[in-house]
Amino acid sequence: MPSSSSPSKRPEVSVLDAAEAARVVAREIAELVRSKAARGERTVLGLATGKTPMGVYRELLRLHREQGLSFARVTTFNLDEFVGLRPDDPRSFRAWMRRELFDHVDLDPAHAHVPDGSGSPTTLDRECERYRERIRAAGGLDLQLLGIGKNGHIAFNEPGSSRDSRMRVVELAPTTRASLAAEFGALERVPIHGLTLGVADVLAARAIRLLAFGEGKRAILERALQAPIGPDVPATFLREHADVRWIADAAAAGHSR
Ligand code: F6R
Repeated sequence: MPSSSSPSKRPEVSVLDAAEAARVVAREIAELVRSKAARGERTVLGLATGKTPMGVYRELLRLHREQGLSFARVTTFNLDEFVGLRPDDPRSFRAWMRRELFDHVDLDPAHAHVPDGSGSPTTLDRECERYRERIRAAGGLDLQLLGIGKNGHIAFNEPGSSRDSRMRVVELAPTTRASLAAEFGALERVPIHGLTLGVADVLAARAIRLLAFGEGKRAILERALQAPIGPDVPATFLREHADVRWIADAAAAGHSR
């Protein structure tokens, strides 16, 4: 397990505005993809949905269009999905990924993985096993893109999730459901459960880039960086990873301009 030399030390944060952060992360992804492709290897990316990574996807689309960045040798695995939505439901994370990225680049749909949350509880356990097996077979995640929930969740690992949690069905926290109410039209329509990679699955990625933008993420970012490492704030576990980069804009980092 990768472990930093002193996880209790407050990690450094790269303070960049959202557009610059998107360019920096997209450039890193593009360099990784190009250097691995030059060696005939595929790059395995862990992807997130939500507002935070949108700029990175937009920048990747630009690099694809204007600089010929090819996704032909890329495999992607999304972090999570809602339980009870079919993959073609426009509110699913798969549909969101198609709109934001998949449909606009030369990524083979067979290599663009999003958990399928449409099954019953027993088939969903099998889906979790299958999904983790696919990540293993692909050689593991080279780089995981992450956002952070206002309650400190990473993926759908809500507070209470342990360091060794694996992919599973989880109940979404009330604050997580509330933050999704607008997209679903009403709080009651937001799914109650999600399917998520576990904390241990996320930490198994070789590199992690966590992004946080806006005043609304300031308090939780501070806790993720400072609070004791543990399940109360699942994002604190990232401090145990040897190659994590924390990137935040001035508002989230608590810097005045
Ligand atoms: C999404 C995900 C979530 C989000 C988090 C922040 O795939 O796993 O953990 O990263 O809820 O969401 P935004 O970016 O919308 O603030």
